[in-house]
Amino acid sequence: MTKALFINGSPRKQWNTAQLLQKAMEGAKDAGAEVEMVNLYDRNLNYKGCMSCFACKVKGGRKGVCLFKDDLQSIMEKAVEADVLVCGSPVYCGYPSANLRAFMERLIFPAVNYSDFGHPVINKPKHSATIYTMNCPNEQIYKDNAYDILMDVNARQLGMFGPTEILYSFDTYQFNDYNRYETAAIDEHRKASVRDTQFPKDLEKAYELGKKLVTDSMI
Ligand SMILES: Cc1cc2nc3c(=O)[nH]c(=O)nc-3n(C[C@H](O)[C@H](O)[C@H](O)COP(=O)(O)O)c2cc1C
Repeated sequence: MTKALFINGSPRKQWNTAQLLQKAMEGAKDAGAEVEMVNLYDRNLNYKGCMSCFACKVKGGRKGVCLFKDDLQSIMEKAVEADVLVCGSPVYCGYPSANLRAFMERLIFPAVNYSDFGHPVINKPKHSATIYTMNCPNEQIYKDNAYDILMDVNARQLGMFGPTEILYSFDTYQFNDYNRYETAAIDEHRKASVRDTQFPKDLEKAYELGKKLVTDSMI
């Protein structure tokens, strides 16, 4: 059975990134995959990025998966068993969240082949995507802020395993109550309107993305 793994790189388990991942997961499930979501900011999950132990590069040792023993190890095993991987992250100060980057270091470095740079050690998870959510209101400002370089380069690293794509959700609703915070520069009414009109479309796109990734992986 096709396995699809969803990685939430937002500390919030019910908000924008998580909701989009949830929809992608529903799409993947409807397409016939066995699905699982991991919340990287779960308080029970203690891990760091690559610890430079080089266990994944030892001659004669197991290759392609991070062997560092901490709470991420079982998740790394699931990631390399997955046919489909979808990572989600908010934009944090122009970059993906720190916990998503730490996860990606642990996923990508073991796949880098020091004996043949052109060929990754492993081709799984083959079909992948990244979902980004952000305050940034549109694609033009995304580019003006150079997010297309910083964020997209991060997402395209998953392309070393196989085809990968990116779904953007702009201008997300950030607080339950905008009045509680110093947000004079933010038009809460416009935010609410984006939440009520555009965000449902983004959810639909996420559903279709999850479905497509699983269907593609079955071909
Ligand atoms: C620490 C922090 C840094 C942020 N930096 C940016 C940023 O650089 N650009 C941006 O467009 N939004 C930024 N945001 C807004 C979040 O990306 C946006 O609200 C996102 O949708 C939150 O995802 P979530 O609802 O899944 O938690 C930032 C939010 C936080 C908490």
